[in-house]
Amino acid sequence: MKKLVVIANWKMNIGSHKEAARFLSGLRRKMRYLRGTEAWIAAPSTLIPLLKNPSVKIGAQAVSAWNGGPHTGEVSAEMLKNSGAKFSIIGHSERREFEDDDAVRKQLSSVLSAGLTAVLCVGEKERSTDGSHFNYIEGQIKSACSDIKHTSRLVIAYEPVWAIGKSAQEAMRPAEVEEMAIFIRKTLSDILGRAAAAKIPILYGGSVEPINAREIIAEGGVKGLLVGHASADLNLFLEILKICRK
Ligand code: PGA
Repeated sequence: MKKLVVIANWKMNIGSHKEAARFLSGLRRKMRYLRGTEAWIAAPSTLIPLLKNPSVKIGAQAVSAWNGGPHTGEVSAEMLKNSGAKFSIIGHSERREFEDDDAVRKQLSSVLSAGLTAVLCVGEKERSTDGSHFNYIEGQIKSACSDIKHTSRLVIAYEPVWAIGKSAQEAMRPAEVEEMAIFIRKTLSDILGRAAAAKIPILYGGSVEPINAREIIAEGGVKGLLVGHASADLNLFLEILKICRK
């Protein structure tokens, strides 16, 4: 991935087709001035088949651990792919509330097997002075990646849970983002080998807004951003994209 990637995680903040279509047509008009940046949209699954837009990649916010069968309400990776999704977020902290590591591992395998890109979220709930949050992140990565055979479509999004849904002032400092990005790269290298690990993009998410995006990109050692609340506002999202333009 040569370009920086900015992923909008719409959550349920944009839920109607009308709102989403208006957002995307505004984005498309500006995208030609934003060469050097890739915009991805993680949309609610009901909207995925309705959002056709060549200038952005549309994906899902969550996926089933199952590939088919009697699982009421679940949507498999194959079903997402058939509806037009190009990627799926996996293991977002708002889903890890009720999904365990085993489910995240199965979701990752099934997304990669279906040929979709997987955006695997990891993040500690709190930081501790003894540094045990590093062990926590290592455990999440090792557990999720224990079954995977190929990594060419894997993206890691580091999202410290304590920094999600706050304001830019409460987000993580770029130096700490960089320290964790190095640690994640080393962990990936231990389990997947150095060459494969070097190619896996690491993104940061957690209260990214236009005010802090520039320094996180410049000093955080990451290849892009996963943006929640600020991605539901087209102007804020465009400003973040502009900052990430090379
Ligand atoms: P936030 O959300 O930008 O609102 O903190 C990020 C996320 O949950 O992915």
